[in-house]
Amino acid sequence: MKLINSIVLSLVCSLVFSQNNSFIPGKQWKDTNGVHINAHGGGVTFVDGVYYWYGEYKTAGRGGNTSLQGVSCYSSKDLYNWTNEGIVLKVENNLSSEITKGCIIERPKVIFNKKTGKYVMWFHLELKGQGYDAARAAVAVSDNPRGPFQFKKSYRPNKGVWPMNFDDKFKSALIGENKLKSWTSEWLTAIKIGMLVRRDFEKGQMSRDMTVFVDDNDKAYLIHASEDNLTLHISELTDDYLDFTEKWTRMAPAGHNEGPAIFKKDGVYYMITSGCTGWDPNEARSFSSKSIWGPWKPLGNPCVGKDASLTFHSQSTCVLPVQGKKDQFIFMADRWKPDNPIDGSYVWLPIEMINGKPVLKWQDKWNLEFFIK
Ligand code: GAL
Repeated sequence: MKLINSIVLSLVCSLVFSQNNSFIPGKQWKDTNGVHINAHGGGVTFVDGVYYWYGEYKTAGRGGNTSLQGVSCYSSKDLYNWTNEGIVLKVENNLSSEITKGCIIERPKVIFNKKTGKYVMWFHLELKGQGYDAARAAVAVSDNPRGPFQFKKSYRPNKGVWPMNFDDKFKSALIGENKLKSWTSEWLTAIKIGMLVRRDFEKGQMSRDMTVFVDDNDKAYLIHASEDNLTLHISELTDDYLDFTEKWTRMAPAGHNEGPAIFKKDGVYYMITSGCTGWDPNEARSFSSKSIWGPWKPLGNPCVGKDASLTFHSQSTCVLPVQGKKDQFIFMADRWKPDNPIDGSYVWLPIEMINGKPVLKWQDKWNLEFFIK
């Protein structure tokens, strides 16, 4: 009897105490089974009262960037407590598959297509054994937010298509541009005016760190680090969200932005990005624009206070609009742990808008009441 009592007590305790009612940025975040959430570089999608958090499902140990099993999914109704829904896109054992075990899948994001009723997942794919050279955008689909997702294809966007408003005079190589020394001002100018767009014109533009964004009119866009991570590209998706319309633009040329995260408030688009220092944190940047196509105005580092120059030791991945709540946006970021990737933690912070700029302040612990204050 004593044993049964203590089992019941511990069950009750675990039920009561495993309930989260706040966000604790940077700390271990346990799912409803008591296991640290494994959904890195992720994004959140809202469907019928449920949030779905998709991310890179890493494995333990020093496997490097290839140490991943696929894309995980967690569900939640309150954003604090997440149930593991399993791996919804698995790396495959088939060596001829583009997502064979040993490939790199990063920053998966899922959007719902109202016309087709499908859930569409975009992610950054690097082919097995090729480091980060493939730089492909990849797409998978599912009928259900809980998966399984079916891998469709991977490729480089905008093959053979110039960006909007690209000056004719820059469509052919400039004399001597191949010989420019990296990081000189001449080289940066050459990048700005499109040297790498030209280089990749035939094979398609690179697509590494990425996010997707669905606008109020249901048009969707892939926002991806291209041109050796020096310039972000914004590429419009077709109506079924499975391909590109060939309408695309460059953003902050030669600005070296990664980790793009976007949101829209009162008709204005805001983007938060990171710099480019691998797994190490750096200073975030922010931008605003009245059109998705720009011009994007730089607004500086959105972080303030201690460790603002290191984005509070994290890197942006997504901005999550709290459903049904006007002007409630959560900044989602990763604290990478390359030595044991599953230990990577998550930094979620409320976005405050101050003088037309997104502002991020560190919080040891916070909840959604923050927005009601
Ligand atoms: C980061 C990037 C991550 C991952 C990493 C690999 O800069 O944001 O998504 O690609 O580099 O070193």
